[in-house]
Amino acid sequence: MSEKAFPLEPIEKASIDELRSLQLKRLQSTLHHAYVNSPVYRAKFDAAGVHPSDCKSLADIAKFPFTTKVDLRDSYPFGLFAVPREKCARIHASSGTTGKPTVVGYTLKDIDTWATVVARSIRAGGAKPGDMVHISYGYGLFTGGLGAHYGAEKLGLTVVPFGGGQTERQVQLIQDFKSSIIMVTPSYMLAIADEFERQGIDPKTSSLRIGIFGAEPWTNDMRAAIEKRMNIDAVDIYGLSEVMGPGVASECIETKDGPTIWEDHFYPEIINPETGDPVADGEMGELVFTSLTKEALPIIRYRTRDLTRLLPGTARTMRRMEKITGRSDDMMIIRGVNVFPSQIEELILKRPELAPHYQCVLTREGPMDNLKVVVETSTGIAQDSLQARAAAKQLQHEIKVYIGSSVEIELRTEGGVERSQGKAKRVVDLRRK
Ligand code: DLL
Repeated sequence: MSEKAFPLEPIEKASIDELRSLQLKRLQSTLHHAYVNSPVYRAKFDAAGVHPSDCKSLADIAKFPFTTKVDLRDSYPFGLFAVPREKCARIHASSGTTGKPTVVGYTLKDIDTWATVVARSIRAGGAKPGDMVHISYGYGLFTGGLGAHYGAEKLGLTVVPFGGGQTERQVQLIQDFKSSIIMVTPSYMLAIADEFERQGIDPKTSSLRIGIFGAEPWTNDMRAAIEKRMNIDAVDIYGLSEVMGPGVASECIETKDGPTIWEDHFYPEIINPETGDPVADGEMGELVFTSLTKEALPIIRYRTRDLTRLLPGTARTMRRMEKITGRSDDMMIIRGVNVFPSQIEELILKRPELAPHYQCVLTREGPMDNLKVVVETSTGIAQDSLQARAAAKQLQHEIKVYIGSSVEIELRTEGGVERSQGKAKRVVDLRRK
């Protein structure tokens, strides 16, 4: 295997000025494309009294209306597309929790752009020529599997298109083929690590060198735990189907300081989720994206509901986003205190007696919301042992002190919390609506 690194694309080394002027040109052309070719966007722009020609600087983007999941649902299936359906090479869809799925489309050029940003992401994650990539993101309508697949192929790597599930065989093929990179959700990585151990193999001894994890929030403590347990470098890949799929932003292995946003294709903003006003770089808020090169489904100011902030570039000139630790949809309000599952995850990871397999169960008694944290004990520790009970008490205490909520803790032995084979379900809401 050659150890020579892949070269960066010129735009990854461009100056900020070059980048901003490319973005403005592409933004103007995207706004124009959306207005002329998508009746839904035209109606939205007209209703807001804006025209693509009003965009003279990047800051002018704030004059344009937001796009939300509701816009996509209302135009189900293909109403927001800006090309005739026959020009689409591929359709993906997100299952959604209720009602109709959100449908997105790609022209052949879009598929190539997507492969380019995923290839860039895998390279940023530390891939070298000759690497073999084991893909455990689900294939099918979910963008994870095929998105990762096309990117890895484009980079010139060998792809093992496994998909989700069949955990025993995942381990067998990683061992037999000697893949060096795995792309999977962090929660499913944990299940695969468990399976390694169940088969009597120390996961540290596997051929894996790098894990490219995303599709769900995961904390830096989870990163540290996975890196140690697997003896790999773990990097964070971010994306969402409405904007493209995986590869909207991805972390550089040399810094591991939050995903670099591939700003030549996706323009980020942070807004105050209550007022919709843009906030300055460095301030927390809701992440909003505008696509700069998409043909089939240009997306203008899409409200992701993901909470983060924009940070200056480090390993690249492009800006970074802080690792996402919560979505506004996942926020639980327990007696007036806002709680995110990731805050609980951090505290669980501090206790060696507990395993990071957990769920937050919400119930309601009269007017009160109750939160129960269901968490597994580590391998070999019985749920009713003294040390497990002490760890549960300590966790309960720390949640009270650091987050401010009184919660109940329920311990389960290994395997007692449902394993994810894709995105983990961290919040189980049993409150009657
Ligand atoms: O999850 C795309 C993807 C696949 C990204 C594989 C990375 C790897 P959706 O199913 O549309 O697309 O879900 C998008 O997942 O708005 C975030 O809330 C969450 N998400 C995705 N990546 C991350 C990440 C794919 N790295 C939604 N960290 C997004 C935190 C993430 N949350």
